[in-house]
Amino acid sequence: MFDKFGFWYYNNSMEIIKNYKLDECIKIFENNHKSFVFDKSSITDPIYTKYVCVENGEPIGYAVVYPHNDFIAREQFACNYASEPDSIYIWHIVVHSAHCGKGVGKFINDAILADYKGRPIYCAIDKNNLPSLHLHQKQGFAIVAEFTQMFHGNMTTFAILRHA
Ligand SMILES: CC(C)(COP(=O)(O)OP(=O)(O)OC[C@H]1O[C@@H](n2cnc3c(N)ncnc32)[C@H](O)[C@@H]1OP(=O)(O)O)[C@@H](O)C(=O)NCCC(=O)NCCS
Repeated sequence: MFDKFGFWYYNNSMEIIKNYKLDECIKIFENNHKSFVFDKSSITDPIYTKYVCVENGEPIGYAVVYPHNDFIAREQFACNYASEPDSIYIWHIVVHSAHCGKGVGKFINDAILADYKGRPIYCAIDKNNLPSLHLHQKQGFAIVAEFTQMFHGNMTTFAILRHA
């Protein structure tokens, strides 16, 4: 990112702390879910692991990880894709709008990819959500299925992406 003098520098002050300050993650959800992310309750549900990106002690973005393979049924997706038994699923990822475009999303996903190395990692993305599609494709996720269904009142086309 750029400092106040306009010089580019690498921000190495970010860290990932799991399940940290979830009340602040809820505020990030409210700030920037952009009608692409709906399941606020997943942030405080202990079945999900929260990867929280922290800078100077404060959350600036997070991802909710569902570490099981039955995500398609759990999301009630109209898709019969069969994921591997050891696969996991990024339920959602949100970065605070003040911190978007600075590598925070990539930093969070890198931590998930490292932790679950060797296991297939999935996510599902609204095909209109180009920032999220670009983020995941740039990190090696590839589309393995597409389907269209009603989702929170809108006919939505989803892509399921897999990172192996
Ligand atoms: C999607 C989201 C998490 C990306 O987080 P981010 O911290 O801004 O992303 P990064 O800065 O790490 O960007 C990494 C890559 O993502 C892509 N990307 C990020 N923002 C983008 C944008 N506005 N338009 C196009 N591509 C974008 C780029 O490929 C980028 O790489 P580059 O900077 O080298 O070109 C963030 O935009 C967000 O919170 N969106 C709202 C909630 C949401 O839609 N979540 C995803 C639900 S599946």
